[in-house]
Amino acid sequence: TPRISAEVGAMENGKAQKVGGAGLDWSKLVFGSRVDSHCFIKHVWKDGEWDKGELVQEPYVKMHVMANVFHYGQAIFEGQKVFHCKDGKVRIFNDKANHARLTAGCQRMGMPTMTAEMFHQAIDRVVAANLDFVPPYGSGASLYVRPFMIGSGPQLGLGPSNEFTFMVLVSPVGPYYGGSVPCKLVDEFDRAAPLGVGQVKCAGNYAADIVPAKQAKDQGFPICLYLDAKEHKYVEEFSTSNFAAITKSNVYLTPDSSSVLGSVTNMCLEVLAKDMGLTVERRKIDFEAEVSSFKEVGAVGTGVVITVVESITRGEKKYTFEQPSETLQSMYNKLRAIQVGDEPDKFGWLREI
Ligand code: COI
Repeated sequence: TPRISAEVGAMENGKAQKVGGAGLDWSKLVFGSRVDSHCFIKHVWKDGEWDKGELVQEPYVKMHVMANVFHYGQAIFEGQKVFHCKDGKVRIFNDKANHARLTAGCQRMGMPTMTAEMFHQAIDRVVAANLDFVPPYGSGASLYVRPFMIGSGPQLGLGPSNEFTFMVLVSPVGPYYGGSVPCKLVDEFDRAAPLGVGQVKCAGNYAADIVPAKQAKDQGFPICLYLDAKEHKYVEEFSTSNFAAITKSNVYLTPDSSSVLGSVTNMCLEVLAKDMGLTVERRKIDFEAEVSSFKEVGAVGTGVVITVVESITRGEKKYTFEQPSETLQSMYNKLRAIQVGDEPDKFGWLREI
């Protein structure tokens, strides 16, 4: 596989490029502020096979009006970040784990899988073609990579599509929430059923959060926390990300549930926590019985990295956590240092592009 260089960028895009060449005000970026780096890659699956993929130089896809995705929601996605590292190289964080999660999700959703090689190459091609938008080392920003697949075949009856389109787009991003957040515990809605698709990164799980999250935002809470749908007792998932707490006895605690997303960031943080001398527990968390034992709470995921949750409000009750969140902050610093090459990648999470 060719490593990224100005030449690779030029080859794919027809013009010379370099890291940071777009010259944006990188430190001012927030997550989702740029929707204009529109060169994306598109692969189509038909008759049991993926094609070789093409780079599309506009932000549009032409699709049959009866495409499955528009009606029955065969749609799944991933999210990764690409960093310009201290040594000048461009690397992606743990996309091996994203491929594994995508594969499991596609199986649950009746969608075709792809080889790790195809997945990584699609990412490499689109990053190479968007080198100008990779934020420079030291900017604090990164290039977000969004692979996604949709049922694109025309059909009116419910069933798996006979054609799928896999695309990868990129966007330079900064912080998702821009600081620590107060959270609302949602009792009026559920995110995902125990035997549903909560563990899959499918579009529908995020659609379920749109109205509750909008209501919470209007009440001053940028993020929602959901409990399990069966008993409304156990901690489940935030709107955008996994839940993690540091308990008063210094345990890194995260929910074990069949209906939460298998967060790649959370998995890595479990490894880091152990490495930093914390105990790690992944188990059911009874919210009311345990919330008072939480010293710190964080939302953890690719987009949010580790966002400190200052408080959780449930109806009239407000539970607050220690500020500053020393342990979560040091985990955040450690993770970011590994991602940009300030510290050695001793767990082998980075892949050079
Ligand atoms: C991510 O963190 O990468 C996600 O896909 C979550 C999304 C709501 C931004």
